[in-house]
Amino acid sequence: MTPARRATAPDAAAGARLDDVLAAVPFACAAYARDDGRLLAANTAFRTEFGRLDGHDRRDGLLAALHGSGVDIDPGSEVRAPHNDRWYALYWREAATQPPALLLTAVDISERIEILDSHKSRQDKLLFTSRLMSVGEMAATLAHELNQPLAAIVNYLNGSLRLVGQAGGPVQVERALLAARTQAEHASAVIARVREFVRAREPRRDAQDVAVIVQTVVELLRLEAERQQLRIDIALDPGMPAAYADRVMVEQVLLNLVKNAIEAMREVPAARRALRVEGRVDLDGAVELRVLDRGKGLSAAESEQLFSPFFTTKSDGLGIGLAICRSIIEYHEGRLFFEPRQDGGSVFGFTLPPAEGRP
Ligand SMILES: Nc1ncnc2c1ncn2[C@@H]1O[C@H](COP(=O)(O)OP(=O)(O)OP(=O)(O)O)[C@@H](O)[C@H]1O
Ligand SMILES: [Mg+2]
Repeated sequence: MTPARRATAPDAAAGARLDDVLAAVPFACAAYARDDGRLLAANTAFRTEFGRLDGHDRRDGLLAALHGSGVDIDPGSEVRAPHNDRWYALYWREAATQPPALLLTAVDISERIEILDSHKSRQDKLLFTSRLMSVGEMAATLAHELNQPLAAIVNYLNGSLRLVGQAGGPVQVERALLAARTQAEHASAVIARVREFVRAREPRRDAQDVAVIVQTVVELLRLEAERQQLRIDIALDPGMPAAYADRVMVEQVLLNLVKNAIEAMREVPAARRALRVEGRVDLDGAVELRVLDRGKGLSAAESEQLFSPFFTTKSDGLGIGLAICRSIIEYHEGRLFFEPRQDGGSVFGFTLPPAEGRP
């Protein structure tokens, strides 16, 4: 950069002066010739951050690499650079240098974008939770509104059945009334379950010992299990971490899964009935509970519909057990899953985030 060199090569001299100016800019900065778009000068930050980007030594090459086209773009724009996967805000300004140049300043805004993204996913989550809540509220209102008329329908049907009974027929009418009553009772039962689920209570999550949850649920179902000559084994890995969960909600999930497992073994010979509740930490560090049965398992078609509301293969089923489980586990940022059990039967399980590091 001697004065002599500047005198002999005007472009190089201009480049050298631009170099001095650009060196003072605290961001990646480069100057491109306005006429043919060649790179005139660049500071160290630009060379470090964009030196590996193909085509960076020509303005159209740079535009093509960053915007996917060589066309001119806004004087200010935000792009993700393909070579280092970082976000930049680009500012183009004309400079009355010799030769005339277009100055580019590229400010790394990756951190800001990351914060925006995580804010957005938090917002999405909030939205999901509030949607879950408003569905709950709606269900509560519906359940409330439908409960009275349904109770009245059942009463009228009972009255009519009595009258038909006293009059001694006709038998077809009696049968139709009985069928209507069964349907009305079924509807009432759906509503009772929904009300149980949405019983106006805000979920409250804190550190929960899953061993206690498992004990509570198994205790609740002990009688039902004994009636079916069925033992429930519990096998939790030692040192299971606490889960970040609403205790009542998770108990409800586990209760539904164990009930399903018991029901799945109704037709299985007593000697083969075996129900196990296992607990472990999964590969991602989440707390995982699994319920294993020796029922007949599920066909591929069945397992596809499994979690849809009102899907049931039981004559006395409502088909909302697993749908409720799923919304509870999604609310907990966990995963509800099904897989066939080796040597027959099913495995239903779910994950919960560990409590560690949560407020
Ligand atoms: N452990 C299991 N083994 C085999 N099939 C199962 C098992 N758990 C669930 N299923 C199947 O999934 C269906 C839906 O289960 P879900 O718990 O949602 O409803 P349900 O048990 O039929 O009725 P309810 O609303 O009373 O729980 C069941 O009807 C059954 O076909
Ligand atoms: Mg069920």
